[in-house]
Amino acid sequence: MRTALYPGSFDPVTLGHLDIIRRAAALFDRVTVGVLYNAQKPSGAFSIPERLSLVEAVCKGLPNVEVHAFEGLLVEAVRTCRADAVIRALRTSADLEIELQMARLNRQLGGVETLMLAASPQVVHISSGMVREVGRLGGSLEGLVPEAILPRVTQALHQE
Ligand code: PNS
Repeated sequence: MRTALYPGSFDPVTLGHLDIIRRAAALFDRVTVGVLYNAQKPSGAFSIPERLSLVEAVCKGLPNVEVHAFEGLLVEAVRTCRADAVIRALRTSADLEIELQMARLNRQLGGVETLMLAASPQVVHISSGMVREVGRLGGSLEGLVPEAILPRVTQALHQE
């Protein structure tokens, strides 16, 4: 059974993330979406339980996808869930620079292979940071986050 770990902050999960989760689920037997966090430096708009709950809600129709939180190094998360590879998304050439560095570092630290998927054109402009900004300023998040979580994310960010 081939398994992949798709790690990220998911603060919150977006339609861009969902695009990658669906495509990874079609490539691998099992995909673990990993909400990574650093207990020493808690940050973000959504708590870890909230992020997990939002990712779970959008992955409901995907039987080979599971969601877990991991604290610390990515290579440790890969070991814990026995993943064969890490999945990351590429939106821009700036992403590529950062992702190449992370991929090489993770290969050195734990022999971890990283597969990079090119973000689909319809969602390439979407990021969690942009979602947070638009939401906090009272804008519509339709078309940025999955329908299933639109009211929850909108309400949480509008209230900030
Ligand atoms: O969605 P993001 O914010 O781009 O995700 C980045 C993330 C969480 C995947 C990255 O910061 C990470 O792997 N953090 C775990 C700590 C770690 O292993 N750092 C060294 C290798 S990059």
